[in-house]
Amino acid sequence: MNLLTAQNLSHSFEYELFSNIDIELKEKDSIAIIGMSGSGKSTLLNILSTLLEPEQGSVSLFGEDVQTMSTKKLSKIKRDSLGLVFQSHYLFKGLSALENLEVASILSDQNIDDDLLKRLGIYEPINQKVTELSGGQQQRVSIARVLTKRPKVLFVDEPTGNLDKNTANEVMDLFFDYIDTNSAGMILVTHDEELAHRCKHVYRLEDKKLIKL
Ligand SMILES: Nc1ncnc2c1ncn2[C@@H]1O[C@H](COP(=O)(O)OP(=O)(O)OP(=O)(O)O)[C@@H](O)[C@H]1O
Ligand SMILES: [Mg+2]
Repeated sequence: MNLLTAQNLSHSFEYELFSNIDIELKEKDSIAIIGMSGSGKSTLLNILSTLLEPEQGSVSLFGEDVQTMSTKKLSKIKRDSLGLVFQSHYLFKGLSALENLEVASILSDQNIDDDLLKRLGIYEPINQKVTELSGGQQQRVSIARVLTKRPKVLFVDEPTGNLDKNTANEVMDLFFDYIDTNSAGMILVTHDEELAHRCKHVYRLEDKKLIKL
């Protein structure tokens, strides 16, 4: 069974962004989507992660069409099984990094993994307020928060934007290990072609189509 199947997706805002897009994600798969700024990558990721309803087409998660799924079931899937790492962090600013992770840990009934914090290089500053951390540290706290709930599908939009090349590579190693260990899947949007090519499948969103490279 696919973790995610999207068929025939089309979407427009002021003008048509893309049409007839098909994509499928299996366990341990990683998919990268590259494309020019404004081509619609984040919009596509919003549709795939069920934040936005497509104008046409369907998205299925774990074999079930999200449009016909009950609200209750979809909420549960979103809470337990989808992990969104997006361009803005949405951390609780008044809390420490650890308290942010504790919220995720309580909501999902999963433990905070010290190894994860060490690998992300946020073990030392974990008790500091989020607002005191650097942009890159905040980004890594938000990644730790998402992974703490052990999602089955990761949607990742420019996760390494604030990071130097070494740290970016370490963060990507962590994502790849995570999907392998947890039989999860990842859809990654990035400008960085080198990073994209570390994924199993690479697509380019261009001329309103998704082209497999
Ligand atoms: N909520 C919205 N309402 C109206 N137009 C929107 C909305 N969201 C996106 N757009 C338009 O859709 C186009 C694609 O935006 P999107 O954010 O998907 O691009 P992107 O490929 O992710 O770009 P970038 O690489 O810069 O992040 C843009 O031209 C944008 O103006
Ligand atoms: Mg974008």
